[in-house]
Amino acid sequence: MCAYVRFSGAAVACAALAMLLLLLYAVHRWRNPRCLGRLPPGSMGLPLVGETLHFFSPDASFDVPRFVRDRLARYGPIFKTSLVGHPVVVSADEELNYLVFQQEGQLFQSWYPDSFVEILGRDNVGEQQGAMFKYLKNMVLRYFGPESLKESMLRDVERAVTSSLCTWATLPAVELKEAVSTMVFDLSATKLIGLEPSRSKVLRKSFFDFVRGLISFPLYFPGTAYYSCMKGRQSAMEVLQQVLEERKRSAQVLGEGGRMEKTRRHGDFLDHVVEEITKEKPLVTDKMALDLMFVLLFASFHTTSLALTMAVKLLADHPHVLEELTMEHETILKDREGDRESDGVTWMEYKSMTFTSQVINETVRLANIAPGIFRKAMKDVQFKGYTIPSGWGVMVCPPAVHLNPDIYPCPLTFSPSRFKDKPEINRGSKQFMAFGGGLRSCVGADFSKLQMSIFLHFLVTRYKY
Ligand code: HEM
Repeated sequence: MCAYVRFSGAAVACAALAMLLLLLYAVHRWRNPRCLGRLPPGSMGLPLVGETLHFFSPDASFDVPRFVRDRLARYGPIFKTSLVGHPVVVSADEELNYLVFQQEGQLFQSWYPDSFVEILGRDNVGEQQGAMFKYLKNMVLRYFGPESLKESMLRDVERAVTSSLCTWATLPAVELKEAVSTMVFDLSATKLIGLEPSRSKVLRKSFFDFVRGLISFPLYFPGTAYYSCMKGRQSAMEVLQQVLEERKRSAQVLGEGGRMEKTRRHGDFLDHVVEEITKEKPLVTDKMALDLMFVLLFASFHTTSLALTMAVKLLADHPHVLEELTMEHETILKDREGDRESDGVTWMEYKSMTFTSQVINETVRLANIAPGIFRKAMKDVQFKGYTIPSGWGVMVCPPAVHLNPDIYPCPLTFSPSRFKDKPEINRGSKQFMAFGGGLRSCVGADFSKLQMSIFLHFLVTRYKY
């Protein structure tokens, strides 16, 4: 009996030692991932958790996020880390960023961590690759591209802006972020899914809840920001689903002789979606259509409202810039006098707003609305002596470029004229990636700029603030 106990104790000790060695090996492996080459410097953090907690720790400054700033100082512009269970290479290097954007579909493909994909939907446009991605992108561009903006959006944007400004002017004070978000959301909801104001309100509330927890630690537990974000997504998806079902039902009615006929169009993006999914052999599924509309609604209101709020704040803080902007718009009105009675902005006038465009570029440079743009290496990629292993994530970090003093002297200063004579910036470049870059660059950039320009036009020519 005694021998048995001694033997058993030794076995337990052996097992514990083996476990410890296994654990040490696992920790060693975690900290030194396999790679056929040299990995960039950096730390993989704690096993499983990696550096996720640091990554999500709140940072209210306008500067490069602390997580990136600290590591740039320690490791240089390319470093490795681990975020929400994935090995990731973070890049603040202009050349690597450029390579990542230009090699879409060859060396890199769109990829976002699982928690983010859960939030935006497994079938959202960012998750589509190759031919399906191009198909969806063209569908969106047909509606949000320059032709459509010129033909119909300009007037709609103008109506939304003038009516909101008119209402705000009657109020003693306006909470700007909230008011601008509501204005942009209602316009987007009308243009995308033709939603009447009563239902738009319910959807807006769901999206506001959703956005509040967007950049948060992915802990799905009541009370956490991530939980309310997911709840916001669920209720928004329910409304979208109802809207889609209603439209599908009304899109096809039995015509004479039992023939299926298309009913009237509503003039919104949903027309295109329903046309696509009710085809005999549709390429787009209902789930893809719903995720697409969700992403478009989120992307169009969240980004533009942030940029617009920030533009108004920056202009208020910089009276000389506001003065130059006002002059540009007063000149438009002066040149128009006598020619036309209507005070609607023409496409030519919009295109002549050179300084306004610089104000917008400078605002989005400082706002850094997309703090990270994610991709995944499709094969081992060699760059400046480092290897990015196949399957690893890559996070391009726009703030690190936009706030680099070697590229933008006094980077935290609001100075729109730094974009003077740089029209090529509008298409994105190694030094300016507020709207992304390459094949995946933002499909709504022109729509967003149009809304901002028209808003600023009416704000500075009709109101004092
Ligand atoms: C100030 C306003 C905006 C900013 C700063 C912005 C920024 C960006 C960025 C950085 C990307 C690239 C993401 C990536 O490469 O993974 C992007 C993509 C995208 N944006 Fe925007 N955006 C804005 C407005 C809009 C608007 C108004 C819409 C909708 C009409 C929109 C729809 C999209 C979509 C659908 C994509 C995904 C494209 C893809 O996966 O290829 N964005 N945006």
